[in-house]
Amino acid sequence: MSQSAVSVYPRGWFVVAFSSELAAGQVKSARYFGEELVIFRGEDGVAHVLDAYCVHMGANLGAGGKVCGNNLRCPFHAWQFAGSGECVEIPYAKKIPVKARQRAWLSREVNGVVLVWHDANGAAPDYDVPTIVEHGTEAWLPWTEAIYSIKTQPREIVENLADRGHFPAVHLTDIHDFAFDVDGHTAQQRVKGTAHLPGGGVDNFSSTTTYHGPGFLLMRMDGALQNYMLIAHTPNDTQTLDLRMGVMLKVVGSRAKTEGYVAQYLANLKAGFEDDIRIWETKLYRETPMLCDGDGPISQLRRWYRQFYVASA
Ligand code: FES
Ligand SMILES: [Fe+2]
Repeated sequence: MSQSAVSVYPRGWFVVAFSSELAAGQVKSARYFGEELVIFRGEDGVAHVLDAYCVHMGANLGAGGKVCGNNLRCPFHAWQFAGSGECVEIPYAKKIPVKARQRAWLSREVNGVVLVWHDANGAAPDYDVPTIVEHGTEAWLPWTEAIYSIKTQPREIVENLADRGHFPAVHLTDIHDFAFDVDGHTAQQRVKGTAHLPGGGVDNFSSTTTYHGPGFLLMRMDGALQNYMLIAHTPNDTQTLDLRMGVMLKVVGSRAKTEGYVAQYLANLKAGFEDDIRIWETKLYRETPMLCDGDGPISQLRRWYRQFYVASA
């Protein structure tokens, strides 16, 4: 298969917003997979994702569109679209044209994030992201969130999972055990290590980090604190991507006490992550890297990741 016959963007479930970014009645404009999108939440609380440019005369629904009940009203001539994309009202027409509809993206909201399904050929989902049963319970805090815009390509982010060799140099972490496995749409890393904290001291941790498809990573870490980390990246276009990071801590003692740890905890994670970003934003992607025996299973990860780039129809 030649390079040009393969989709530009991977297929799968991708996060387009934290739930907290979208209040009922709110409209957000977004650019993902090289397309202009509009995300809105109806008064009934359901989030929807539509193509942004109005089927009528091309106004951007994300630039001044308003939620009316559970519909989105275009800022130009006030046509209203339901979450399904169907035009349900034109204030000055007797008859709504049969083909008046916006493309609606298949979306779902789970674990405090809104996801869309992307497949360049329009094929239906063949996997799902898991539900975090602890999310939203009393025993755990909600996500503490960070959003990055990064000038890189998705494959760089994904490769970190298999890149054993960068831990000591980039993350000041000694790796004692490193295991990696792929299974269908998932790829999993299991690590035991010692992190040297920026403020001094060490954290002995064990973590299980899993990609569920090409853009949705969950890490479960048991160390000084039990936590989930979410790293979800979604390409805006071929040059940049949005990365949403969240950390969810298990309550220790009381919620108030645990909330007191969260800011510092996320700050440590972000500092480590920003060290990766600095590398990604300035590096070159080598199709055939000069690997050595301690590098980790980078070739295996690349083979796994290739499955998400489908032949263009
Ligand atoms: S361009 Fe949207 S209603 Fe006219
Ligand atoms: Fe890293």
